[in-house]
Amino acid sequence: IPVEDFDLVIFGATGDLARRKILPGLYRRFVSGQMPDGAQIIGAARTDQDDAAFQAETRAAIIEFGKVTEGDADLDRFLKHLHYVAIDAKGEGGWKELKSKMREGVVHAFYFSVAPSLFGDIAERLAKHDIADDDSRIVVEKPFGRDLESARALNKVLSQHFDEQQIYRIDHYLGKETVQNLMAVRFANILFEPLWNAQYIDHVQITVAETVGVGGRGSYYDNSGAIRDMVQNHMMQLLCLIAMEPPYHFDPDAVRDEKLKVIRALEPVAPTEIVRGQYQANGEPGYLEDAENPQSRTESYIAMKVRVSNWRWQGTPFYLRTGKKLRARTSEIAITFKEPPHSIFEDAGAAGEPKANELIIRLQPNEGMDLKVMIKEPGPGGMRLVQVPLDMTFADALGPDAADVTDAYERLIMDVIRGNQTLFMRGDEVEAAWAWTDPIIQAWDEGKARPEPYDPGSSGPDEALGLMHRDGRRWREIRS
Ligand code: BG6
Repeated sequence: IPVEDFDLVIFGATGDLARRKILPGLYRRFVSGQMPDGAQIIGAARTDQDDAAFQAETRAAIIEFGKVTEGDADLDRFLKHLHYVAIDAKGEGGWKELKSKMREGVVHAFYFSVAPSLFGDIAERLAKHDIADDDSRIVVEKPFGRDLESARALNKVLSQHFDEQQIYRIDHYLGKETVQNLMAVRFANILFEPLWNAQYIDHVQITVAETVGVGGRGSYYDNSGAIRDMVQNHMMQLLCLIAMEPPYHFDPDAVRDEKLKVIRALEPVAPTEIVRGQYQANGEPGYLEDAENPQSRTESYIAMKVRVSNWRWQGTPFYLRTGKKLRARTSEIAITFKEPPHSIFEDAGAAGEPKANELIIRLQPNEGMDLKVMIKEPGPGGMRLVQVPLDMTFADALGPDAADVTDAYERLIMDVIRGNQTLFMRGDEVEAAWAWTDPIIQAWDEGKARPEPYDPGSSGPDEALGLMHRDGRRWREIRS
């Protein structure tokens, strides 16, 4: 679907996120024919350079991060859309020039790919120089604050110049194809929703495992840890999409209202229901070296048992875990259903064998769904049951050409231009998520305990196993 003509200004255009994600993403949308002929992408940053230098830099970034070859025919045409303005976010330099580049009568979007401490300065100057108007959109990135207080302060600063309908808070997990698929699976099928509650679901496991460490971004990460970096945002969004009530319509506020209710229904988590880990050196640098802080108590792994206190979920725990330097890069949601209330078969299968249905939604990689069902084990040996997978890999089911390669960022940027906020976090949602994580972080900061060490390439600390064993359950294996 073509989008309206637009001028997109990227503050922080020479930074890492712009080079790795935003500019290569825009290029892919251009190649797909989604960029109107007149569209302008205006880079704005401190560096003093001209359009040609910015275009050359962007060309290099797209080749490196967009996996595009040097002689790509589309690249030169795309680069013509790019302009550059050297800007002083805290001063007056460059703002008049920026204003002069913006066209009338097209969508204006401003991507704040800068430190949150600059949000206020930029918002204020956009207003003061009459660059942004009531229809303009601004895009802000995580981290959106580091606790409730700072998130509130950011919301306040932005709201001085922009309405909530103009603010697009990115959580790139919401831009992932399979994350949106969670809503399609739940709300476009009759099969699952009647069973989607505590009466039929024993528990839910949400895993986001990564193989990378924190080397290279240790100073940011060491001030965040897995709870701020992953749980407060990405994991929380996954939990919301799994746990929420059906919205009355696929409409921004209808969806976000339901997500907000889930966050508000989260019970506080006791320290005994959380396990934190830190990868240790083992032939390669450990977390402490990567973070360049030999005393650090920051977790690179966290597992927790979460309860959603409402009618639907009373008694069904959600186990969340995420970590760096684990055995495989895999994100999945596993729904374990309860066993049938009564077995008519004497020999229901060997002890320890699963006897319940499971639905596994693989978010990445190898995107797909796997429904485990019980059938009779073939052979004359009587009525023995065995669990088999009904496995659907989306790329197989839809054909390799249909497999969507749209990156989360490009989808979300186009949603900004279209003016669709469904996949963006609302201010109250972000604040509610911090209100829930703040006491968890505070309790840890007040203690002296250290995270449990784990080996790079493992499944995380052994203590995390106990979190589920205590409840007579076990984690699924982490594998790609
Ligand atoms: C980012 C976190 O938001 O998400 C990173 O800051 C993490 O630490 C990344 O690695 C994971 O994203 P993805 O898309 O690779 O699963």
